[in-house]
Amino acid sequence: MKIHLSPTRTVLIVLTAGLVGGCATRPALKKAYQNDFLMGVAVNQAQFNGEDRRGDRIIKAQFNCISPENALKWASVHPEPGVYDFTNADRYVAFGESNHLAVIGHTLVWNHQTPRWVYRDTNDDFVTRDVLLERMRDHIQTVVGRYKGRIKSWDVVNEALAEDGKLRRSNWEKIIGDDYIEKAFQYAHEADPNAELYYNDFSLEDEPKRQGAIALIKKLKADGVPITGVGLQGHMKMDWPTVEQEDETISDFAKLGVKVSITELDIDVVRATQENRTADIEANAQQVAGANSYSHGLPAEVQEDLAKRYADIFAVFLEHRDAVERVTLWGVTDADSWLNTPGRVNYPLLFDRNGRPKPAFTAVIQAAQNPDRE
Ligand code: GLA
Repeated sequence: MKIHLSPTRTVLIVLTAGLVGGCATRPALKKAYQNDFLMGVAVNQAQFNGEDRRGDRIIKAQFNCISPENALKWASVHPEPGVYDFTNADRYVAFGESNHLAVIGHTLVWNHQTPRWVYRDTNDDFVTRDVLLERMRDHIQTVVGRYKGRIKSWDVVNEALAEDGKLRRSNWEKIIGDDYIEKAFQYAHEADPNAELYYNDFSLEDEPKRQGAIALIKKLKADGVPITGVGLQGHMKMDWPTVEQEDETISDFAKLGVKVSITELDIDVVRATQENRTADIEANAQQVAGANSYSHGLPAEVQEDLAKRYADIFAVFLEHRDAVERVTLWGVTDADSWLNTPGRVNYPLLFDRNGRPKPAFTAVIQAAQNPDRE
């Protein structure tokens, strides 16, 4: 029997064979994209502590940049007033340095994973603007200052916008006022004048929220606030955002003269949750019940759809390679993803639960090698 293969198919099979055989020609994401942007991955404690040997091998072989899944969040490094604990954060940064990986800081000011005491006095009432500004300054300058010159880029403020593009009524905004954002950037810049400083958010591909972010970035720049980039988190679905939306979004921010990074990429394949378009962690937690359509594995045709989706979205990133600074996957293997919650098995990343590259991995490598790309 003669099998006719399209050139695309042939490349796919050759690449997959190389991987499965574990031969020396195994492609690497960081190599495939070396002339385009950094290829990053979020790492957890078991990975930067060296306990997850399989994850460790994948990180070192495939990526040239890391983000801390949780190790640098406020609750992790500054759990009590006046108490800083840098045990994990130090290990995270050392792991990056000893493996020659660019090290990202995530995140300084957010409305989640921030202890209640931050906003409250001893009577449990909200503190004043001045007190909260002082706590924020102390936190930012202590954390950024500790890793000065070692952390390349900080997500200074995370998720400040609501879906309508207005500022989210977080405790930060309620207590300090709208200028908490510029203050956070100023404090971070003072602590490390050479660090890249990012505003990071989800769903900026949606029009109202994107317009809000554009207005925010314009205002910050007009006021001389030292912002270098916008992070599109990239918690995607199979049908959202469209490639056109992603393309326009990156263009819109690039036009403002800021860098763009895809900071937390994953693609949720569990169809039962496709209604939920937000990456808000509370909203996701409420909607997952019963959303476990692929608990016994991902059907082959869905694997292929996911591979195609990854290829399409990376083609957009490549078109904007001049503006895009890095693309970071939010987790190493499917087993590590936050999109698995009790009763919900998900498959959003490029490596499967056994650490094997998925068809989506091959598709991403192939997107970089597409001879038609400019
Ligand atoms: C947000 C945060 C990330 C992570 C994810 C999911 O996107 O920025 O740090 O917590 O939610 O958990």
